[in-house]
Amino acid sequence: MFAGPVDFLKGVVAMEGLPPADRVEVCFAGRSNVGKSSLINALTGRKSLARASNTPGRTQEINYFTAGDSHYLVDLPGYGYAEAPVAVVAKWQRLLKSYLGGRQTLRRAFVLIDMRHGIKAVDEEILTLLDRSAVTFEVVLTKADKVKAADHDKIIAQVRAALQKHTAAYPEIVVTSSEKGDGIETLRAIIATMA
Ligand code: GTP
Ligand code: MG
Repeated sequence: MFAGPVDFLKGVVAMEGLPPADRVEVCFAGRSNVGKSSLINALTGRKSLARASNTPGRTQEINYFTAGDSHYLVDLPGYGYAEAPVAVVAKWQRLLKSYLGGRQTLRRAFVLIDMRHGIKAVDEEILTLLDRSAVTFEVVLTKADKVKAADHDKIIAQVRAALQKHTAAYPEIVVTSSEKGDGIETLRAIIATMA
């Protein structure tokens, strides 16, 4: 667990609203409904810290959580939500670009991919943006409990192949289930040991 309390700090809608860059920071990106908020809840052991819901697109702000005294966990707005108004999407894309390109203390982006679906075109966009921003990213496969164990290796191999062309990709892939707890301790250790 993280040394010290875990708390929601603030929701940010513009670069000026970012908290002081004085901690190790990791962010969680992924399609709407992929399980970002659920993963943050599982990582922190706080069931309803980050709101998890069935309503896609609900997390509309860059949500900052303090994890212990040394880390920020950052829940990014979900992308690929078809019903979001064009103007709203454009505003988020601008903010996302500024954030990924300009946040000095951002150590790694965890890009969540639904294990049932793999990497889609809409995911490729953010992976390319991460390459360009030179933000190291690590793929986290979510909802592993929805995939037969016999299919895991094949899916991991497909994802690994799709990552070949990405210069900012970290080689490790973490398989998780926020529901069952798979991979949560592994991911927590990866984050907690970043200093
Ligand atoms: P946005 O904030 O809209 O971008 O979504 P999100 O990525 O934060 O997804 P969220 O955590 O709200 O989860 C979306 C839905 O998937 C919820 O109904 C969760 O209960 C479900 N879910 C999340 N993680 C898992 C998991 O590991 N296994 C299963 N079976 N369901 C999950
Ligand atoms: Mg969310």
